[in-house]
Amino acid sequence: MAAREHPAPVKVADRPLTRDARLVLLGCGGYIGSHLLDTLLVDPSVRVDGWDPRPDKIRHWLDAPNFKLRRAMLNEPSGLDDLHECVEAADAVINLAAICNPAEYNTDPITVIRSNFLDSYKVVEICAEAGKWLIHFSTSEVYGRTLASYVSPGDYDCDAALYELDEDETPFLMGPLSSQRWTYACAKQLLERYIYAHHAQLGMPYTIVRPLNFFGPRMDFIPGQDGEGTPRVLACFMKALLHGEPMRLVDGGSARRTIVSIRDAIRAIVLMLEKPQSAANQAFNVGNRDNEVTMAELADLMRKIYARITGDDSFLKHPIESVSARDFYGPGYEDCDRRMPRLDKARDLLGWTPSVSLEETLLETMTYYHDHYAVSRRQAG
Ligand SMILES: NC(=O)c1ccc[n+]([C@@H]2O[C@H](COP(=O)([O-])OP(=O)(O)OC[C@H]3O[C@@H](n4cnc5c(N)ncnc54)[C@H](O)[C@@H]3O)[C@@H](O)[C@H]2O)c1
Repeated sequence: MAAREHPAPVKVADRPLTRDARLVLLGCGGYIGSHLLDTLLVDPSVRVDGWDPRPDKIRHWLDAPNFKLRRAMLNEPSGLDDLHECVEAADAVINLAAICNPAEYNTDPITVIRSNFLDSYKVVEICAEAGKWLIHFSTSEVYGRTLASYVSPGDYDCDAALYELDEDETPFLMGPLSSQRWTYACAKQLLERYIYAHHAQLGMPYTIVRPLNFFGPRMDFIPGQDGEGTPRVLACFMKALLHGEPMRLVDGGSARRTIVSIRDAIRAIVLMLEKPQSAANQAFNVGNRDNEVTMAELADLMRKIYARITGDDSFLKHPIESVSARDFYGPGYEDCDRRMPRLDKARDLLGWTPSVSLEETLLETMTYYHDHYAVSRRQAG
């Protein structure tokens, strides 16, 4: 495709795309995709063409007349043919497809880079060719380390500019080559740059979403019950509580994260679809500044909430142990100390602010895990 110098930018729709719309949803069978389908498909005037080889979390939609799932990987040539046609017919394309598990960033970096860049760059080209709006799920990991991690700890709290993440100003700071933890962040960052380049040179409309820890039902899997390997922190701590194992804190659990309810997060995405003119050609952090915790605090809070859900006070003293990052993730892992998103853009352009507290988010999420896994385990046993 020949690059043009100053193309007329492609215009996005000037009407909400949550009615009478046709959407392509890549990676629709995963955690976020399943919640997005639950919101979009209730309106029969919205038609979704989905791609995902794994239908487990969206079985309740498989027979819906306004949904068609291709059980295919994006990197399969046959899947791509059909994708061209669907993108041509779509009002917008949402790309969620990725491998996004921290335990794999340094243990299977080749697959992580392939999945997060090589399997998706074609989607960008197809959208640019068809002149379609691409809403791409990136990650807050693209920011890498915070500036604060380069200064003395005393400076940390006194200057918010050292740790606040601004979508348009904050530099992307990655570790050295041997720290393979950054494979995911670098692949996501290159794809963001590829998207931006297609906007700048070819006028393709885009929105980049940078999620910060969406917590809710259906996130990941419980190892030994419906998957194998090491899931993200929520499911790791849940597995420990469900299976009577110690909750393992990597390097003492001092890393801080902000956590946003999947309900708030889906509302942000729906607002993007409702206001294409405001959402197009922007990157948005989607997180919750009020819900910041260290991983040690998160483990303790989860013990307390699980005691409440089960009515069993012994969970208040559920064992917690510290493990080195090397022992937990293997060599080449390092963590980002803190991520505090600026959310002004989402508020000003979309009218979005998150409202669900950390405690409420955990209560809803952990109740789901308890009902889904503890009860089914008891029934199976
Ligand atoms: N959940 C979060 O808090 C979070 C945080 C940061 C970034 N993200 C990003 O949001 C997106 C969705 O995350 P999620 O939590 O729903 O992850 P998920 O793993 O639950 O879902 C991803 C889905 O993509 C599918 N997939 C992977 N490669 C594919 C391919 N080549 N073709 C077709 N389907 C493919 C998988 O089968 C899976 O169902 C990802 O891009 C992820 O990097 C999520």
